[in-house]
Amino acid sequence: MSTSKTNIFLIGATGYIGGSILTRLLKHTSANAFDITVLVRSAEKAKVLQEKFDVKAVVGSNDDLDKLEALSEQSHVVFSCADAGNLAAIQAILRGLKKRHTSTGDLPILIHTSGTAVIATQAKGIFSSDTIYSDTDVEQIKSIPPTVPHKDVDLAVIAADEQGYARTYTILPSTIYGQAKGPLFDAGVSNSTSIQIPYLIRAALGRKQGGVVGQGKAIWPDVHIDDVADLYIVLLDAITANQAGVGHGWEGIYFGENGEHTWYDISKAISQALVELGVGGTDEPTSFTDEELAKYWGSVDVGNFNGTNARCRADRGRSIGWKPKYTTADMLASIKPEVALLWEKAQKEGGV
Ligand SMILES: NC(=O)c1ccc[n+]([C@@H]2O[C@H](COP(=O)([O-])OP(=O)(O)OC[C@H]3O[C@@H](n4cnc5c(N)ncnc54)[C@H](OP(=O)(O)O)[C@@H]3O)[C@@H](O)[C@H]2O)c1
Repeated sequence: MSTSKTNIFLIGATGYIGGSILTRLLKHTSANAFDITVLVRSAEKAKVLQEKFDVKAVVGSNDDLDKLEALSEQSHVVFSCADAGNLAAIQAILRGLKKRHTSTGDLPILIHTSGTAVIATQAKGIFSSDTIYSDTDVEQIKSIPPTVPHKDVDLAVIAADEQGYARTYTILPSTIYGQAKGPLFDAGVSNSTSIQIPYLIRAALGRKQGGVVGQGKAIWPDVHIDDVADLYIVLLDAITANQAGVGHGWEGIYFGENGEHTWYDISKAISQALVELGVGGTDEPTSFTDEELAKYWGSVDVGNFNGTNARCRADRGRSIGWKPKYTTADMLASIKPEVALLWEKAQKEGGV
C-alpha cells in the first residue's frame, strides 16, 4: 500500500475564504493523507499554524515569487485564495506547476479564487439587469471582456489548462456573508469577516443611516461562507473520485451563489438594524453622495461598485453535488447581528 501523501499548498490561509477552506481540509476524512503547506505574511501566525494546527507554514508574501514558484512545484494541489487580481503571483504559481509537470509527469491541480466582479456591469443602482450568466454556458463565459477586473489572472489560469501542464478550476464567489467559524478563527489566525456587506455597514454606522448607490435597484448573488468553502471541498473530492468527470479550464468555472438580492434589500436591512439597535437614522436607506462614496470606499468609482449588476447561476457546482444550505433570507437575517458586532467594535475602538 502506498504511504505517499498528497501535497497541498494553500495561499490565503489567514483570510476569510482561505481560512475556511483550511478549516475543512484539517477535518477532512482524508486529512491524514494530506501534507499541507501555507504561505503567510505573519511570522506569529505561522508559529501558531505550525505548533497548534500541525500545518507547515512558510513566512512570505505574494511578492516572494520564488517561494510561490518553489512551493507550487512541490504540490499536487494548489488553492489560491489570497488576491484575485495578482497576475505576477499566479504566473509564479503556474511556473511552479509547469516545472512539476515537466520533471515528474504529475498533472497538478490549481483551484483558483476569482469573483463575480468579472461579470459586474455598472448601473449606479438605477436599474436591474436581465443578463444572467450560467457557469455551464461556456460561450457566454467566453464573452466576458478580457479587460474586466481579475480577468487577466483568470485567463492565465485557463491558458495553463489549455497548455496541458495543469488542470485548473476557477471559483467565482459572489457576495459572501456570515461569520467564518472554527479553531483557526478562534485562535485569531484567520479573518472571520467578509468584505462587501461589512463595508456597507461601516459606511452606515459612519453616517448613522443605511445608504445605497442610486436607488439600490441593481442585483447581485449571495452565498454563505460555509457553503462557499464547502464548494472548494466538493470540487476537490469530485476531482479525486473521478477527475475525468469534472469540468476544468473553460469548463471549470464555478460560480458560488445560492440566491440573489438587490443592493436596496441589504441597505434596508442595515437601516432597520440601525434603528432597532438605537444607533440612529430611519429604516429607509438614503442615497450615498459622491463625497460619502469617496470617504467610505476611497473613491467614487470604487464606491459605485455597490451599484453594479452581477447575476449568475452556480449550475456547474450543483452538477458535481454541491448543495448550498443557506439562502438569501439567511443573508438578510445575518445583517442585524453583523451590524451589532461592528457597532460594538466601533464603540470599543472609538470610531468606525
Ligand atoms: N469575501 C468575498 O465576498 C469575496 C467574494 C469574491 C471574491 N473574493 C476574493 O477572494 C480573495 C480572498 O478574499 P477574502 O474575503 O478571503 O479576503 P481576506 O479575508 O482579506 O483574505 C485575504 C488573504 O490573502 C492574503 N494576502 C493578501 N495579500 C497578500 C499578499 N500580497 N501576500 C500574501 N498573502 C496575501 C491575506 O493575508 P494577511 O492575513 O497577511 O493579510 C489573507 O490571508 C480576494 O481576492 C477577494 O477579492 C472575496
